[in-house]
Parts: sequence; structure tokens; C-alpha cells
Amino acid sequence: MAKPALKFACSECGYTAGRWFGKCPGCDAFGTLVEEAPVAATSAAPKPLLRLVDVQAEEAARIPTGVAELDRVLGGGLVPASLVLVGGEPGVGKSTLLLMALAAISEERRALLVTGEESTAQVKLRAARLGGAEQVEILAETELEAVCATLERERPDVCVIDSIQTLYSAELGSAPGSVGQVREAAARLLRVAKENGVATILVGHVTKDGAVAGPRVLEHLVDCVLQFEGDRYHAHRVLRAAKNRFGSTNELGVFEMTGTGLVGVPDPSALFGKTEEGEVGAAVACALEGTRPILLEIQALVSPTDLAMPRRVATGVDPRRLAMIVAVLGRHAGVALGSADVFVNVAGGVRIDEPGADLAVALAIASAAKGVPVRSGMAAFGEIGLTGRLRAATQAERRLEECAKLGLAVALAPAGTPAHGKIRVQESDTLRRAIKAGLDDRQDGQETG
Ligand SMILES: Nc1ncnc2c1ncn2[C@@H]1O[C@H](COP(=O)(O)OP(=O)(O)OP(=O)(O)O)[C@@H](O)[C@H]1O
Ligand SMILES: [Mg+2]
Repeated sequence: MAKPALKFACSECGYTAGRWFGKCPGCDAFGTLVEEAPVAATSAAPKPLLRLVDVQAEEAARIPTGVAELDRVLGGGLVPASLVLVGGEPGVGKSTLLLMALAAISEERRALLVTGEESTAQVKLRAARLGGAEQVEILAETELEAVCATLERERPDVCVIDSIQTLYSAELGSAPGSVGQVREAAARLLRVAKENGVATILVGHVTKDGAVAGPRVLEHLVDCVLQFEGDRYHAHRVLRAAKNRFGSTNELGVFEMTGTGLVGVPDPSALFGKTEEGEVGAAVACALEGTRPILLEIQALVSPTDLAMPRRVATGVDPRRLAMIVAVLGRHAGVALGSADVFVNVAGGVRIDEPGADLAVALAIASAAKGVPVRSGMAAFGEIGLTGRLRAATQAERRLEECAKLGLAVALAPAGTPAHGKIRVQESDTLRRAIKAGLDDRQDGQETG
């Protein structure tokens, strides 16, 4: 039989070639072509089929991680034998978070930390700072085969690999951290995790543009992709799920980095949802993240400019969404911003993806443009349509509940929002009316927009 030809495949787009290229001819990505093991033609016997009704499955109990905010994002704890990828920028606190989780897990189950980045002594020092990780087992190893063999023998309940980029297999010729190595390591760990019932958490580094470094195929392999975000200059960190096979992807965990580790912030609204009384350009949004409503301060600055293309700078808000809101404000609400730069910022480094925050963004910009503060004790939610009409936001009742809990007096909301016992609902059908109702007209403002 002829020997099958060697093949190279792109890990990004799947392009295959008979020889190696530095740049993939298919998608123009660099360094993504990896050697594929030649597949020998085999003949396999057909397998019997099962009906779903006959499949035996019991809902396995989830493993609580002891870190409430992590459990929330995972959808109620770690699923046994699942594979979770945690990505985040250097120094954001990935190792800290996972060591804390291992410490809590190790009280009842076997928890193993495979460290390729730090020495056991370094981990020990961190554990001493965090406290209570005495029972965590540790393995300082970077060779993939050794890690897999150890996992197969020891079969811990939970294993953290810190990080997937440091593992390498001697069988592949490429350097540790290269696309081929990372893919191979993840695929093998996946098999070991499923066969031996080890819930495995992989730490992955992210590239400058925020993607988990290594092939995208990693994200398809694992059950759950968590992103740990945060500003190095702020103490707050936000954990969110980019993919979750066992729960919602909208859940959000908020932490504060302290000397004794990450402390969960169970009530982020109290932290992020406060504005200064009478301050121009600030509004409180009531956004919904998964099952949890959260109040966030939105700040806006409107500044006259001579640029032909005024700047629209958004931190924490989608720039396209901001451009749309600015356009609707100009066209339908009489807030012309054609010759002004607009900057919008969400407090605490939190990112909002939800359209329900539109109204608060518009209100903050209108307040900044007119030099009039938003009425005190007011929060806003509602989606803005291109016609300037406000669309009802989902789960209005839970949002109102959160506003009432934080002691706000009025909620600016789209028409049709049901009344609430504890907070006054100020309904508006259009953006123009909402802005009129939301800005404090007792204060004499100067038009700058
Ligand atoms: N003594 C300390 N007091 C307060 N915060 C500390 C202390 N030591 C470390 N930190 C915080 O911990 C962070 C580092 O956390 P950690 O090592 O878990 O990050 P990481 O995401 O694992 O980073 P890397 O990608 O480099 O492995 C630092 O950025 C710092 O904010
Ligand atoms: Mg680390």
C-alpha cells in the first residue's frame, strides 16, 4: 500500500495543502498551517443505533467551586468531566481565581493544580496569601504526556492547567505555545477529562485583540469559555461566559482584587450605579445581564470640535450602537451633535451589550450636550428605535425591582412598562419626550450641542 502523503491544514479556515506555508493561502493568517497526521484508510464495522428515549442519563450533580460569582457564571457550578477554558490578559487574576476555587473544592474533593508557569514555591506563596489551600495537590510539569498519564492514574475530581500554552508534546516538533501544540494539548486533555471524569479548567492567554491565543478550534473543543476582564488600573474584575454548554452565556460575575485575593461583589449595582447629585453628563442605566439586573453609571462628555469627522469614543458600549444613538438624538430628539466629539464611558470597566441601556446612554449624552443634569434619583432603561420611538425592554419588572432596592425614586421607561409598587415609573413613548422628562429643567443649562 502506498504511504499516505503528508498534509498540512490551516487551523483557522481548514485549508489543506501538500506543503507548509508561512501564510495560509486560504485565509491569509500567518503561522496557522499545522501538520496533519496522515490518515490511513480503515474499514470499521457499523455500530448499533439508540433512540434518545433509551439513553440512560442522570443529571450529574455540579461541583460547587466555593466562589459564588464563578458558580453563577458557570451556571451553578462545575459540571463533572467538563472542559472549561478561562481566558484573560496577563495579570488580571486568572491564577488567583482558580487557586481560590481549588482551595474550596479541595475541602471535599481531590483538586489538582498543574502549573507550567510558576514554580511550586511561587504557588505556595500565593496560597499563603489567599489562605486555606493546604489540601490542593500540585504538579509542576509542562510535558503533555506526563500530565495526561498523571491525570489517568490520579483521577482528581477537578484539575486546573495553568496554562495550556506552556504544555508541549515532544511528539510534535513545534515550539510550546504554537498553534499545533495548543490544539494537540487541548484535544488530548479533552479525551482524558471525559474518560476519567476529571473536570478540567484550562487557563489560556489572550492576544492583544482579546481572542484566546492559539487556534480558534480550542473554543469549539471546550464546553465552556470564560473571559476574565478588567482594567489593570481598577480593582474590579468582570467574569463572563462567551460560551457555555450547560448554562446561560449572559451571566456576569464581579470581583474586587484585594491583597487577600478576589472578593466577589454580590451587589455590583451599589458599586457602579451611583451618580453624583447634580452632575452633568451622568445617567444611571438599568441593564440586564443574564438573570441579574445591574445598575451602571453612564458618563458622557460632549465637546465642540473642528474635526470634519467628529469623534465618537465609547468605552464599555458598542461603538456602532453609540453612533446610532447619536444619530437618533440629532434627528429625532433635537440634540444636534454634528460638530461635537462624543465620549461615553461605563463605570467600573463593565461592558454593556444589551440594547436596554440605550436610553440611559442617550440621556447622559443629552445631559452633557445641554449642560443640564439628569433628575436626581432616576434610572433609565429602554431600547431606542431608529424612528426615535422607545421599545419596551425585556423583564421590566426585575429592573424596576433592582432600582427600588437601590433606593431610586423614578424609573424612566418606555410606554407600556407595567406600574410597580415601590418606584414611580415615568413612561415615555419617544426619545424626545423621555429626554424632556429625564433632564432636570429647574436648573438653567447652557446649550452647547
Ligand atoms: N500582594 C498583593 N496585593 C494585592 N494584589 C495583588 C498582590 N499580589 C498580586 N496581586 C494582584 O494579583 C494580580 C496577579 O494575579 P494572577 O497572577 O492571578 O494573574 P494571572 O491572570 O494568572 O496572570 P498571568 O497571566 O501572568 O499568569 C496582580 O495583577 C495584582 O493585581
Ligand atoms: Mg497566572
